[in-house]
This record gives sequence, C-alpha cells and structure tokens, in this order.
Amino acid sequence: MKNLSILGATGSIGDSTLKVIDNLKDHFNILYLSANNNYKKLADLAKKYNPEYVIIDKEFYSDLKELLSSTKVKVLTNEDGLIQATSDSRVHVVVNAIVGSFGLRPTITAAENGKIIALANKESLVMAGENVNALMKKTGAKILPIDSEHSAILQSLNGEDYSTINKIILTASGGPFRDRKDSLENVSITDALAHPNWSMGNKISIDSATMMNKGFELIEAVHLFDLKPDRIEIIIHPESIIHSMVEFIDGSVIAQLGLPDMMLPIQYSLTYPNRVELNLPRLNLHKLGTMNFSDPDRKLFPAIDVAIAAINEGGTVPVVLNTVNEIMVYKFLKGKIKFTDIVKNVEEEIAKHKKIDKPSIDQIFEVNDEIWKRLH
Ligand SMILES: NC(=O)c1ccc[n+]([C@@H]2O[C@H](COP(=O)([O-])OP(=O)(O)OC[C@H]3O[C@@H](n4cnc5c(N)ncnc54)[C@H](OP(=O)(O)O)[C@@H]3O)[C@@H](O)[C@H]2O)c1
Repeated sequence: MKNLSILGATGSIGDSTLKVIDNLKDHFNILYLSANNNYKKLADLAKKYNPEYVIIDKEFYSDLKELLSSTKVKVLTNEDGLIQATSDSRVHVVVNAIVGSFGLRPTITAAENGKIIALANKESLVMAGENVNALMKKTGAKILPIDSEHSAILQSLNGEDYSTINKIILTASGGPFRDRKDSLENVSITDALAHPNWSMGNKISIDSATMMNKGFELIEAVHLFDLKPDRIEIIIHPESIIHSMVEFIDGSVIAQLGLPDMMLPIQYSLTYPNRVELNLPRLNLHKLGTMNFSDPDRKLFPAIDVAIAAINEGGTVPVVLNTVNEIMVYKFLKGKIKFTDIVKNVEEEIAKHKKIDKPSIDQIFEVNDEIWKRLH
C-alpha cells in the first residue's frame, strides 16, 4: 500500500489520476488532495476518497471547512498544505498535477524530501530542471513523468543504458491549427481550445495550439533524460498513436504506442516499474490503417524555436519563457491579447531579460515573481 498526495486533484489530470486509483484501490491510500478555487468539487472528492487532508486557497478555506464539517477530513490552505503534503514522511508518491508556475514549489519540496514525484507539471522542469535534478541526486527523489511523450520515452528506455541514446523523436499532434497555412493572428479562443485528440485543461490546450507545449516538452526531455537539445527531434504525428520514440546508436528505434488516454501514462507512473491491467479500448492497427508524419511549420509556430533558444541560453531564460507564456495564455483566454501575441510577448521579454547563470532556487522564484507582478 503506497500513500499518495494528489495535487491539482480537481483538474483534468487529477480526474484521470482518480480514475486510475478507482481501479487500484488495494495499492494506494490517499492522504492529501489539493485544489485552488474549486472547493465544491474538492469537498465532493473528499467525501468519496476520504483523505486525511484537503488543501485549498485561503479564500475558500472556511467554505470548504463548512462543507466538510460532518467528516473527519482536515482542511489546510495552499501556503502550508502544499509543503506538508510534499514533506510528510508517510507520503510515498506525490502526484503533481498543478498547472503552471505554482507547481514549482511542491516539486522542489517533494525533491528535497526524497519523494517519488509522478510529474504532470512540466513547467517545474522548464523553470528549474537543473536545480530539481541536483536536489534529487542529493536526496534520492525520483521523477516519473506523466506526460505521455516522456512516459513513452521512459518505456522505450526500459533496460537500456541512457548513454546508448542517439536521439529522441518527440511526436506532436500539431494541435488544432496543424493544417493551417495562413496567419493565426485572428483565431478565436474557442478554436484554440478545440484540441483534436486530447481533452485537457485550458492552459495546456492553448500551449498545444501555439506548440509552446512541444517546446516545453523538449526542455522537459533534456532534463529527464540528460540530453542536449539538438538530440531531440520534433515530428508531427496527427493520429497521436506513437507517443514518442528513441533512436539508439545502432540505428534501432523503439517506440511506445497506444490510443490517446492519459490514464495509461498516469498508471505507469504510479505502478512503475510494474505493469498492471488497465481496462481501456485497445489499439487496433487494422482499423487505424495508416499513420502520418511531417515536419512542424516553424514559421507558423515560432514557439518551438523560441523554446529551443531559451534552453540553449539556459540560466534564468527558461523561467522567463515559462512565466511570460503562462501570463500571456491567461490574457489570451480573457480576450485581452491576440493569439499570436502570446509568443511575440515571450520573445520580447526574453530579449529584455538580464540572464542569471546557474540561478539558485530563490533566484528562480525572484525572476518568476517579478514577472507576475509586472505583467499580470
Ligand atoms: N491535461 C492533460 O492531458 C495533460 C497532459 C500532460 C501534461 N499535463 C500537465 O499537467 C498539469 C495540469 O494540467 P491539467 O490539464 O490537468 O490542468 P487543469 O485541468 O487546469 O487543472 C489544474 C489543477 O491545478 C489546480 N491549480 C490551479 N492553479 C493553482 C494554484 N495557483 N495553486 C494550486 N493549485 C492550482 C487546479 O485547481 P482548481 O480546479 O481549484 O482551479 C486544478 O486542480 C499541467 O502542468 C499540464 O501541462 C496535462
């Protein structure tokens, strides 16, 4: 029986994680569940899963406490609760499914406390991959990726020596605008949110539409698999069946395939290195017939090259990449800026930024906080 903290339990990854747990009730015990605003859903989840603690933004603390007054579930606020959930000595696995830069602190605390981190929050590694790796080396913490691409790479690398990797081929669905040839300047919020293959939270849906998500995933792969950015190739694969591939030094390519459903990579991160049954529709190659591959249009989707330049620059530049992007995505979702302004603003802010080399964790938070104060 493993004890779990599930952070971001009310989101899209949170939903899929809890569905996985429903099938694995004998393997996992939930100690903590967290959310930010959605206290009503968190109260319902608490009644169903009976964790010891729930964690919510302080604004909704009293409302949540009232809804749970007839239960034994204790309520904490984000400030203290996320630290407790990632440092409690009884917790074996922290699922970090918080969206955006607010996921960084829990990843850091979990890494400091030697936890297994089932990581959906890729933004943590974009902002502070080197610092998180250094902490994990010190404490024995381990990241098991939830992102389907990185789970596919981990599965393709099973039993292989990482020094035999020649390159990683990161597949991308291409998002809702993959077939567009003309400018994306005037695309609507609804169109940008309409991902063809995956149903996800709003922020990652927009990141997929700009393809910044793929840039983030390239940076995530650099840190997870200790590779230089030029060893990672991005290829459009609209069917989202091959979740990524590894080419080895002898030319052999190993891939992981499956129908797109986040329950599979989430379950693998929780049961790793074991596999257990998962009752989902199975891949039928006869029905699928063909799979397609093409290069991304790097002019229409400049985010890919902006992200690659940021990781090549290193230091605090990927922090600026992440946080300016996050703020601009929310501005786009509120109708305040155009779709193409998201990446334009990221480029402009990176150009103005005075890079700090080898930043400490505190310096990373300082850069992040300064950007939130100035641009939000
Ligand atoms: N969705 C996918 O299929 C998918 C696939 C791969 C990777 N990911 C990654 O997984 C992460 C979560 O994505 P998602 O699609 O599940 O997002 P989502 O549906 O928007 O859910 C986000 C979760 O984070 C919580 N949250 C938001 N802001 C917070 C804050 N300031 N402090 C604490 N908690 C906060 C939300 O609580 P409330 O509900 O109360 O707002 C919610 O529980 C992202 O990093 C994303 O890139 C997602």
